[in-house]
Amino acid sequence: MNSSILSGKTYFIRTFGCQMNLHDSERVSGLLDSLGCLEVGEPSDADIVIFMTCCVREAADTRLYGQCSSCKSLPKPPSGRRVIAVGGCIAQRDGEGLLTNLDNVDVIFGTHSIAHVGELIAQAFEDGDHHVRCEEIEDKGATSMPWHRATTFHSWVPIMTGCNNFCSYCIVPYVRGREKSRPFEQIVDEVAGLVRSGVREITLLGQNVNSYGRDIFGKPRFADLLRAVGETGIERIRFTSSHPKDLLPETINAMADVPAVMPHLHLAVQSGSTRVLKEMNRRYTREQYIDLVRSIREKIPGIALTTDIIVGFPGETEEDFLQTLSLAEEVRYALAFTFIYSKREGTSAAKIDDPTPHDVILDRFNRLVSVIETTAHEFNQGQLHTTVPALIEGTSKKDDCMLQGKSPWNQTVHAPLPEGADIDSYIGKIVDVDVDVAKTWYLSGSLVGGPR
Ligand code: SAM
Ligand code: SF4
Ligand code: F3S
Repeated sequence: MNSSILSGKTYFIRTFGCQMNLHDSERVSGLLDSLGCLEVGEPSDADIVIFMTCCVREAADTRLYGQCSSCKSLPKPPSGRRVIAVGGCIAQRDGEGLLTNLDNVDVIFGTHSIAHVGELIAQAFEDGDHHVRCEEIEDKGATSMPWHRATTFHSWVPIMTGCNNFCSYCIVPYVRGREKSRPFEQIVDEVAGLVRSGVREITLLGQNVNSYGRDIFGKPRFADLLRAVGETGIERIRFTSSHPKDLLPETINAMADVPAVMPHLHLAVQSGSTRVLKEMNRRYTREQYIDLVRSIREKIPGIALTTDIIVGFPGETEEDFLQTLSLAEEVRYALAFTFIYSKREGTSAAKIDDPTPHDVILDRFNRLVSVIETTAHEFNQGQLHTTVPALIEGTSKKDDCMLQGKSPWNQTVHAPLPEGADIDSYIGKIVDVDVDVAKTWYLSGSLVGGPR
């Protein structure tokens, strides 16, 4: 590759979708930085515009077309020519087919090809042609690529890629491939290096972290990984996502034993109806999920449980939905991401007909949101008049004199920045907050002592 052609070029990345894509964007950004490119905040200032795409639901999918088309009306970039690149899950799914509808796209790179993005973009600048790379082969280079972290105090740490579960509604296994765990020592060494560089919190990433290591060791070793990462001196450990069928008792024990593991677990339930769960190919029943929650709460009292729920899976009856509603009332989630089912071509659920009218599904969705709002508020009320340690991430979007951080339970916490204080001396620091307001989506209070 004639990488020198990229030196001095400006680039802009817009990322859609989940943390996997956010982290892939950090890798793309790190690679372009190492080739002498410079990141800018607006597409109009960029010689290279990159969209990291998501196709988990239809809404995410359609957004790309608008974004790419709007690039046509941008003024000419600093270098006189703009290269548009599309990466992520839509690129992996559609490959060259994207060019049929998006004639201004120059580079298409799949989820297995991010290590090649530099050479593809350089070729596009050189010859003005389209360049596409979406082979479903292991991208050996990705985890050793340089990476440009969004913050100095938090880091995503991918521990595995892909998914073997094939939940019947989900496109992810088709666009991210099969589960592939990273070597155990490589992850632990990476976290130790992050600690040395000042990182205080990490989030271990995988579509199903509980099965980490199965492909290497023949059995999951996520519990061992949590314990080993806990020895590195990292102050806060989070992880996502956990599939209930693979959450072993030894993992719950490790979560309880390792002080750095935060008291928060995201445990996607998807539905409270055993019949629907079977149709979804989730491989647990309502009762098994509730038993699992009980054993987690026995070992880790006060833990914040959050979840994902899909409303309107094909054939969901009112009775099925009432089961979801009663499960949510019983588990009392601290937060839930609720989604209306979106048909994804290529998945097995896409073949199931569904006569349920959209307004019925919308009504169910709203009823579920109202239960979640009640339990989220109740969970936050549990922290009222207590002192909560918050890792400060920045200031509130609405008020730049209000510090914003995260509690151990992953709640958003606000506290006023002391008069005359410099925000930079708080970002990435932990502060104690005396909570005197507990709303549905945040806590707020006053600072006790200084940042540490
Ligand atoms: N691997 C993670 C897990 O199983 O917990 C989740 C991955 S997916 C990126 C995030 C969430 O999107 C899922 O938990 C599910 O609730 C939702 N989702 C996936 N496919 C969907 C679809 N076709 N329609 C609506 N929601 C969907
Ligand atoms: Fe999708 Fe299921 Fe895999 Fe999660 S576990 S990524 S929902 S197939
Ligand atoms: Fe979307 Fe791909 Fe993540 S489809 S949710 S960006 S794995």
